[in-house]
Amino acid sequence: MKRARITGVGHYVPEQVVTNDELAQHMDTTSEWIIERTGIRERRFFKEGEDTVSKMGARASAIALKNAGLTAGDVDMIIFATLSPDYNFPGSGVLMQHHLGLKGIPAMDIRQQCSGFIYGLSVADAYIKSGMCKTILLACGEIQSNVMELSDRGRNMAVIFGDGAAAIVVQATDDETKGILSTHIHSDGEFAQELMLEHPGSNRKQRITAEMIENGELLPTMNGRLVFKHAIVRFPEVINEALAHNNLTIADLDMLIPHQANLRIAEYVQQDLGLRKEQVYNNIQKYGNTTAASIPIAFSEALLEGKVKEGDLVCFAAFGSGFTWGSALVRW
Ligand code: UT7
Repeated sequence: MKRARITGVGHYVPEQVVTNDELAQHMDTTSEWIIERTGIRERRFFKEGEDTVSKMGARASAIALKNAGLTAGDVDMIIFATLSPDYNFPGSGVLMQHHLGLKGIPAMDIRQQCSGFIYGLSVADAYIKSGMCKTILLACGEIQSNVMELSDRGRNMAVIFGDGAAAIVVQATDDETKGILSTHIHSDGEFAQELMLEHPGSNRKQRITAEMIENGELLPTMNGRLVFKHAIVRFPEVINEALAHNNLTIADLDMLIPHQANLRIAEYVQQDLGLRKEQVYNNIQKYGNTTAASIPIAFSEALLEGKVKEGDLVCFAAFGSGFTWGSALVRW
């Protein structure tokens, strides 16, 4: 059986930087509150007419393909992870395929929110191992700034989420020493309503009403404390699951790249697992929570900064809406 290996990584974030102080002009919050509770200092907001989720994914993909020494024509499948697709349907995968000038190859969307990258990686890994594909482009992108309300009503979420995209190339390899060692994915729909965007949904006769707009029901909702409590349990659990599956221990791990949900969550996980601070890569300070794109953006920056070296054991881990969670171990 072939092994899957990540051979190229790239990211793209919109130009506009929005600081905490700028947000504080629109709502009752302070930069100190946001930094203390989340670690976030600034985030990016997309530019209408310039950035779409699929276009940002295509820009990130072009960098990832270049880094892999490939062109778009080498790709035989696209996987696109997002909770904020360009349209309700079709998904952003087919749109990105068109931007890249490709025809005929399959393009699928993954709807697993903050765990979208791990779920996508798991699908890519399975398709490569089965021999059905040789080169898969996994892109992740989000535009969330336009579904946040910059007001007191929306402040609990508006200060957290940001826009951005990243992509990786996953290829088949015969090299036994490198690549994706395993992926582990989970979900528990009991908690679906604890972090969601309910409307417009298909279960109402009228998907959007004036009342929904007036009542702010077209905004996402989050039970932040509950999400936090579950996250700090699931992260260590699923990281340990991945290590145990490969007969490894935390002492073998070089770098953890967690979903960038909240710096406090990442710091808790770091201490709980007994990792050194520099063994957990965080860039939430600059981008906020970019949901499906957060792990690959962080991975891309960690590589550019030389923080991940050849032979390193890297763990990706995520937790979020669904609830969904997962991990992956990679020998770089
Ligand atoms: O990607 C995965 C999904 N999301 C997460 O992982 C998020 C997990 N949860 C969290 O990160 C944290 O729960 C938050 C950062 C969302 C909130 O922090 P917290 O320490 O759990 O605060 P809280 O929700 O318990 O709220 C504390 C207070 C409340 O006021 P009262 O009731 O104590 O008077 C909130 O109304 O802070 C208030 N508050 C704010 N104050 C200033 C909520 N949002 C803000 C704000 N600025 N932006």
